[in-house]
Amino acid sequence: SSTTSPKDTKVPIPLLGFGLWQLPGEACLAPARAALAAGYRHLDSAQLYRNEAQVGALLHEIAGSIPRGEIFITTKQGVCGGSPEKTYQLALDSVRRISGDGDNGYVELFLIHTPRGGADARRELWGALEKLYAEGKARLIGVSNYDVEHLEEMRAYAKVWPPHVNQIELHPWSQQREVVKYCEDHGIVVQAYSPLVTGEKDKLEHTVLGRIAAKHSKTPAQVLIRYGLQKGWVVLPKSKTPERIEQNADVFGFELDEEDIVALDGLEEEV
Ligand code: A2P
Repeated sequence: SSTTSPKDTKVPIPLLGFGLWQLPGEACLAPARAALAAGYRHLDSAQLYRNEAQVGALLHEIAGSIPRGEIFITTKQGVCGGSPEKTYQLALDSVRRISGDGDNGYVELFLIHTPRGGADARRELWGALEKLYAEGKARLIGVSNYDVEHLEEMRAYAKVWPPHVNQIELHPWSQQREVVKYCEDHGIVVQAYSPLVTGEKDKLEHTVLGRIAAKHSKTPAQVLIRYGLQKGWVVLPKSKTPERIEQNADVFGFELDEEDIVALDGLEEEV
């Protein structure tokens, strides 16, 4: 599949990624293996997901068949350690769980998981990620769940600006137009989590979505992923089901037209 690179960087982010939320520990292994077999090359982890070590084991396991340079790994940290040094150490621990103890370990992308810790935590976390970035231990750094106010706040002190990525909940029922526009204007890559509305039945079975899916002989899930891709977002669906994992990767052979996009854009307005 195709990739996008944040402004002023040459690090390609695969447009389709596989979310590892709610797959703690060993539970992530079978789905992640299925995703790699289906062609995904981008795995989205976090400290909170409790599967960084398993992602690390998986990288080791596949090293003979998929070169490390073809894989894109993201992790996230949402809490500080009590001092800037300890906060940095917690982030470094993540890199080591994923990449081993060697000095040249790295992840492709490290994000601040949430702005919720407060202004001091946001600043301390960003400092830790900037240090990882300067050392090459994170090839890209960014944020998650940031609103315009959080981005404007960090702009005042960030040495690495703009953040390369903002990962937020995005689908027709959560379009977050203001922060998406801000990201576009500043060259921040937008990543969409929960693109399938976390599997909510009444949304996946919505008549408008069903009509568009039928028109293209695709599933509602595939239409939602395609919607995100055509918006220019990096899309991060997740599934425990091998057949769906494969289905969700089969989204590069069709295109939604303007009328479809307008209809999907309109879904947020109804309640
Ligand atoms: P499951 O893991 O049982 O396959 P999101 O990516 O928005 O967070 O949504 C994840 C949810 O969507 C999971 O409950 C997952 O179920 C479900 N899901 C994933 N892919 C599909 C699909 N192709 N069709 C229907 N539901 C899907």
